[in-house]
This record gives sequence, C-alpha cells and structure tokens, in this order.
Amino acid sequence: ASDIEADLTEVLCTEDEIHAKLGELARRIEADYEGRDLLLVGVLKGAIMVMADLARELERHVQTDWMAVSSYGAGTVSSGVVRILKDLDSDLSGRHVLIVEDIIDSGLTLSWLLSNLRTRGAASVEICALFRKPEALKVHVDVKYVGFDIPNKFVVGYGLDFAEKYRNLRDVGVLAPHVYS
Ligand code: PRP
Ligand code: MN
Ligand code: MG
Repeated sequence: ASDIEADLTEVLCTEDEIHAKLGELARRIEADYEGRDLLLVGVLKGAIMVMADLARELERHVQTDWMAVSSYGAGTVSSGVVRILKDLDSDLSGRHVLIVEDIIDSGLTLSWLLSNLRTRGAASVEICALFRKPEALKVHVDVKYVGFDIPNKFVVGYGLDFAEKYRNLRDVGVLAPHVYS
C-alpha cells in the first residue's frame, strides 16, 4: 500500500467501483434531462473529482459552474454554519440545475444550498451526491441521485478531505483514528 493508503483502516469504494457507479448515474441523468439544457453546479472543494468524472461520463452537452461553501473548516464535525466563499457565475433563471456533491453527511450543507438555489428562479434544482451517510443525517434532504450509502465513519479520498489532505487519494476509505486523535 502507498503511504497515503496506510492511513486508512479500510477501503469502502475503489476507483473502479466509483467510476462504474458514476456511469450508472450518468445514464439516468441523460434519460431524465433529455431535450433540456443542464447546468451542473459543483460544490467546492469536495466535489472536484465527482464533477470531473461525472461530467465526462455524460455523453451530452452540459454547462458547469461552481460554488464554494464551507461548513466543516478543519474539524471532523459539521458545525451547521454554512458560508458562501464563492458564488455562482451563472444566472439560474429558467435553468435546470443539478447540484453535484461528494457527500451528504448531516445534510446541513445541501439542505441550505438547495433552498438558497431554489430562490433564484431555476426551472428545477436537484442533487447528485456520490456518498450519503444515512445514520448521520440531521435534516431530511431529497437527493435524486445517490451513489453509495456508507457507514457513519470519517471517510476520505476522491475529493473528501481531512484538514485539506487525502483529496487526491483515488479510492475512498475510512481514516484511521490515529491520524486525527
Ligand atoms: C464537506 C463535504 C460536503 C459537506 C457534507 O464539505 O464535501 O460538502 O461537508 O457535510 P454535511 O452534510 O454535514 O453538511 P466541507 O465543508 O468539508 O468543505 P470541502 O468540500 O471544501 O471539504
Ligand atoms: Mn464539500
Ligand atoms: Mg471538507
């Protein structure tokens, strides 16, 4: 195992499993948005890998934009405080918007983002999240496209960080407690 892999206690999803799942989600998205323009909104920074790979799985035109919000800072526990660090460049009026996220944990970030974007006159706003932790949800959020339901553990890799590290890990795994305790 590489240096970085050695900080994991287990791998939850390999790079291949992630790409296969994104292919499945892309087929559904193509069918659901057929004949309509689609704007993918990536949530920085965690969604960078999902956005890059999902967008390339889609065999149709899409537009992409980015928002930067943060609810976690450097800690491992969600504060529930959402800050906009960078807003969208696009006007959403009349657009079909699909928010692209790496993970829905407590749900606080996406719940806030969904209601924020829905005030901007979009024709539709839906969510695609690669991971979801059902046991960690604090608020109900309607997520139209979910990749994997995973246990309530601290996971890193494929865009998911701990203190800004591990985003470049290709697989997604559980961070060993000795790293953060
Ligand atoms: C992480 C993750 C999601 C959010 C999920 O982002 O990428 O955006 O937390 O948590 P929640 O469902 O409990 O709100 P973070 O705030 O760590 O910023 P980052 O994407 O830059 O890592
Ligand atoms: Mn994030
Ligand atoms: Mg983070």
